[in-house]
Amino acid sequence: MLTSKRAKFTLPPQVTYLNCAYMSPLLKSVEKAGVTGVRKKRNPSAITQPNFFAETELLRAEYARLINAPDPKRIVVIPSVSYGIANAVKNIAIEKGQHILVVAEQFPSNYYPWKSLCDETGADVKVIAPPDDYINRGKHWNEKILESISENTKAVAIGHVHWADGTRFDLEAIRKRTHEVGALLIVDGTQSVGAFPFDVERIQPDALICAGYKWLLGPYSVGLAYYGSYFDNGKPVEENWINRLNSEDFAGLVQYEHNYQPGALRYEVGEHSNFILVPMLLKAIQQLNNWGPERIQEYCRAIGQPVLQKLLEKGFVIEDEPWRGAHLFGIRLPEGVDMNSVKNSLQKHNVYVSFRGNAIRVSPNVYNTKKDFDKLYTALIKAL
Ligand SMILES: Cc1ncc(COP(=O)(O)O)c(C=O)c1O
Repeated sequence: MLTSKRAKFTLPPQVTYLNCAYMSPLLKSVEKAGVTGVRKKRNPSAITQPNFFAETELLRAEYARLINAPDPKRIVVIPSVSYGIANAVKNIAIEKGQHILVVAEQFPSNYYPWKSLCDETGADVKVIAPPDDYINRGKHWNEKILESISENTKAVAIGHVHWADGTRFDLEAIRKRTHEVGALLIVDGTQSVGAFPFDVERIQPDALICAGYKWLLGPYSVGLAYYGSYFDNGKPVEENWINRLNSEDFAGLVQYEHNYQPGALRYEVGEHSNFILVPMLLKAIQQLNNWGPERIQEYCRAIGQPVLQKLLEKGFVIEDEPWRGAHLFGIRLPEGVDMNSVKNSLQKHNVYVSFRGNAIRVSPNVYNTKKDFDKLYTALIKAL
């Protein structure tokens, strides 16, 4: 099993940081790659044409390994999830009577673009709410999703886990059902990929969109998108010169080219060869491939389990293990406990988590230890 990797980060010792779902801290190695990237532009003569795009290619290959995607050329650099989703939305024709299926309280970047598409076309966004009952909530929510997918479903746009409380969505079952009805599957991997295994070969998403600054341990403003063959002949949201065929030939750029780069490469953001952000994200994903998402899950499970058990005994509500992430889960308060006093107590104990809906969102990673969970426990119990 993995051991604590805290020494690879520079988190202040007094801080109990259980909030990777908000933003990961920076690996020292990633920070170093960023500084090297900043310095690179001191001397532009050393930034030659052959290495202009080289690191993006390495990044594609490294990420392809992480998500088990057979073809790295299906992976492109994006600045944000909303951008990656916008490319998908632009290439989906939908009409009145059809719908895009999402779950309740989904992250806005994977809701607004669909809402806008549906408003323009007269189609609907079908929102699947969780059951009211907390017993077997994850299981029943998944059943509701599967039952709601029909011949009128154009696409299911969903995360692998819910961003607010870590409820796990069974993407393999959803994929099977979407295939039966001919619907697309668009996955927002931001709150899972990196810490929770994702396998493109098994799940076969039509698109997998992921921000880089959370579980991928990268910097802000860079992410990655995988687009499957459905999108191969589509139109990107921007007309960037790098995305046109033969753009590697800098001398020929104004022999304007009608064709895009093949397949998914047309969806890459302009100036993708970012000399600072790309090497940082590359370094981070190399580290993740070395640790492995499976082992990160196992580590998070091991450090959290004893305290979660004690909280359940005290009347806190936590989703059943098989239906949530070990790296991201919600803790709901026992009846009558005031959320504000919980917030105050956590703050007083320097315990950093998030509050999303009626859940305390706890999201550990490899820099946390059992001690961090003990501190969380103390702070929660003091608020009762
Ligand atoms: C599930 C999910 N998707 C996307 C994002 C970020 O979206 P964007 O990159 O469009 O800012 C977040 C941020 O919290 C998130 O939790």
